[in-house]
Amino acid sequence: MGQEVTQLKGVIWLAKVLIVYESKFGNTRGVAQAIAEGIGQVAGTEVIVSELKGVDPDQLGLFDAIIVGSPNHIGRATRGIRKFTDTLGKCDLTGKLVAVFNTYIGGDYQKAMSKMEKQLAQRSPGLKLATPGLSVKVAGMKGPIADGELPRCHQFGAGIAHQLSDRE
Ligand SMILES: Cc1cc2nc3c(=O)[nH]c(=O)nc-3n(C[C@H](O)[C@H](O)[C@H](O)COP(=O)(O)O)c2cc1C
Repeated sequence: MGQEVTQLKGVIWLAKVLIVYESKFGNTRGVAQAIAEGIGQVAGTEVIVSELKGVDPDQLGLFDAIIVGSPNHIGRATRGIRKFTDTLGKCDLTGKLVAVFNTYIGGDYQKAMSKMEKQLAQRSPGLKLATPGLSVKVAGMKGPIADGELPRCHQFGAGIAHQLSDRE
């Protein structure tokens, strides 16, 4: 039996954020965790970090913001993340915030990012892009994440969390 709520004054509403990623060598996972740390620095948000395979599309509606991360694989997101982006378009997520991030070793990394953003905008026009995407450099194919990149991840997360708290 659920408890009846008779007094709402003083109740703190937490905005829920899902960070979903794929990661072969752990770098994109590390970025996801650093973004979560940044979100955690802002009061009023709750964040779940999950590998793509752990995400149930039926649960996506529970979140106020969804952040999607992928390694750059041959100039674009992984096949799994591209498929997930299509899935987002099939769910009713109108008005929710979305953001993307990727990891790369070099080359035209912005191209991969703009492909991710374009696919999102096409498939899920109802989602609101919280911020331009974050591209994070890794020092080699297997990493590690390059020096100076983690603070950018924290800032990225905190910026999204502030947007959510401003919405309340
Ligand atoms: C199949 C494959 C293709 C890749 N293609 C690119 C690429 O086109 N541009 C690039 O900058 N990095 C490329 N990379 C490097 C990855 O983006 C980099 O290793 C990434 O940070 C790994 O993230 P992960 O540890 O989360 O798997 C590629 C890596 C793999 C495995």
